[in-house]
Amino acid sequence: MISQKTIQDIFDTAKVEDIVGDYVDLRKRGVNLLGLCPFHNEKTPSFTVSPAKNIYKCFGCGQGGGPIQFLMEHDSMTYPEALRNLAVRYGIEIEEDESNEKNAEERQLIDSLYIINNYALDFYKKTLFETAEGKSVGLSYFKERGFNQATIEKFGLGITFNSPDALTKSAVSNSYNIELLKKLGLTSKHGRDFFRNRVMFPIHHVNGKVIGFAGRILKPDKKAPKYLNSPETEIYHKSNVLYASHLAKGPMRKKDECILVEGYTDVISLHQAGIENVVASSGTSLTVGQIKLIRRYTQNIKILYDGDAAGIKAALRGLDLVLQQDLNVKVVLLPEGHDPDSYLKEVGSTAFETFIDRQAKDFILFKTDLLLKETENDPIKRTGLVKDIVSSIALIPDPIKRSVYIQQCSQLLEMSEQILISALNKDVSEVLQKKRKDKEREERRASADFPTDAPPEGDTTDPRPEVPSRAADNYQEMHIVKLLMNDGDKYYNEEDKVTVAEFILGNIEDIIDEFDNPVYQQIVKEYHASLINDKQLALSYFVNHKNKEIAKLAVNLSSSQFEMSENWKKLWDIELQTQPIPDENYVTDGMHALLHFKFRKIMKMLNRNKLLLKDIPSGDKDQLMNIINKHQQLTDLRNEIAAKLKLVIIR
Ligand code: CTP
Ligand code: MN
Repeated sequence: MISQKTIQDIFDTAKVEDIVGDYVDLRKRGVNLLGLCPFHNEKTPSFTVSPAKNIYKCFGCGQGGGPIQFLMEHDSMTYPEALRNLAVRYGIEIEEDESNEKNAEERQLIDSLYIINNYALDFYKKTLFETAEGKSVGLSYFKERGFNQATIEKFGLGITFNSPDALTKSAVSNSYNIELLKKLGLTSKHGRDFFRNRVMFPIHHVNGKVIGFAGRILKPDKKAPKYLNSPETEIYHKSNVLYASHLAKGPMRKKDECILVEGYTDVISLHQAGIENVVASSGTSLTVGQIKLIRRYTQNIKILYDGDAAGIKAALRGLDLVLQQDLNVKVVLLPEGHDPDSYLKEVGSTAFETFIDRQAKDFILFKTDLLLKETENDPIKRTGLVKDIVSSIALIPDPIKRSVYIQQCSQLLEMSEQILISALNKDVSEVLQKKRKDKEREERRASADFPTDAPPEGDTTDPRPEVPSRAADNYQEMHIVKLLMNDGDKYYNEEDKVTVAEFILGNIEDIIDEFDNPVYQQIVKEYHASLINDKQLALSYFVNHKNKEIAKLAVNLSSSQFEMSENWKKLWDIELQTQPIPDENYVTDGMHALLHFKFRKIMKMLNRNKLLLKDIPSGDKDQLMNIINKHQQLTDLRNEIAAKLKLVIIR
């Protein structure tokens, strides 16, 4: 184990800008450095590095931390791996804690396991490419399946034939320890090869190391299982592994989406067809560990299911887990009788991609639709259905997402939103309570034994505050006004010469009357009028304003540093992205807040518009059309903002 002193040395020496600078082109921006985020796809830089605080933070995707976290996130290193990497880089000598012999032993064991897996990998490859049987039987098997040479190599595929102990013998004669071969499940307890007559798929950790194998039977055989899999070991923790994650992580990040399929062969076919953001759960239902792995790269997941009854059932199972982790889930049902591999082969990659794009349905709406068909007009079943759906929605951490779903479902179910909301609120409070308890338990556990060799568990997201309150509204309005007064005349986008004020006011032009606070409303309107005459307003304009209230406000809002407080988070209905470096980033937050603000105002306008419907005298078609048109406009606007905020995309 690395000694505490060495760790401290590394902390003191490693510079975040050096480490990040290897991957990101950083430009100076004030006291900070700015670049394009390596964790998500962006055109305008929102990835900030603060040398003074030795941290980085992306205001687009929320990734943030120090030099060690960067290596862990970016290069999928474990905590000790990152420490060792930094020590080498800065020439810091690593002092091992002698007191912890056990750890050194354990590390040695783990290293050996990796070495043996690599030996087996090589062995299976050689059997495929260098033996007569491999070349005739093996390569023609792959050819029949449509896997080309590059694909076979990319996935490290291999083969093994009917010899009772070819691998074991070869490994032992190269002086590998048979006990370790057994531990890895490569050798049976009687000293024979575990995998025989099988096509071999190595399974990789997201960092690219081989941690296990799956062997698919060569010829169908009723008596033998189709797949054999390596057992759980010190290096293979099945519930944290997704097949092909080491190849898919970059593409997932780039496309900001993960496609999840069931089978190894599905993954391979899709990759070969150029669809590379694909991983497989290997025939089991998703685990939290796997979801967390996906979340490192994207929040959007599209799950492809076989188009049969089992596929549909699977679509409904296990997904609550995904909702809870705040992923946006879409499901695609393939045509009856197909899996991704077979369907891709039938229609080709272009048609396949079009198909999955068109068929992708938001999970909640998919589920509602499906259950609705099942329950038909049975009122009792229907009550169950409502409970079922509402309990899924309650798991979604983001209140805005929840409210959009409630609205959608109320239409699908032809039930009043109010009824759904009260059912939801009950469930939400239960979920929050459970989360709180889980968190407490986790904290107690964490403080009891702090894991030294594993990355600290993140992702215990706080339960977020409830649906919008007046206070939240007021605070968001204040934030926008503060931005306008302090930074309105600065460039938001230097290339296009767009000022912050132009950006903000351009975005809220259509709801400018919706500010609840009259002083804020006056400020916004004044700025707007001035912009129309092409005149930017500086802070001094407001500080010296003839309206005393405005002047006082201007002083208050500019003299205090933009302080973050506990309340801050409570008052907003969003997870703030700036916690670590609040002072420098309120502009980005403001922009984000702006969209949330607008979203809520539009929801309000939608509700008001709906109420108007009641009062229309029957027969007044014109007015009816008016209201319907307005409803459409507002709905479109709402969806547009929801999309910008990457909430749910509604179908
Ligand atoms: N699986 C398994 N053990 C089995 C059967 C299946 O672990 N006995 C897992 C494998 O991860 C497999 C996935 O479930 O990839 C899907 O199963 P299936 O569709 O039967 O296998 P494919 O990989 O699609 O194989 P093929 O295309 O050759 O039929
Ligand atoms: Mn299959």
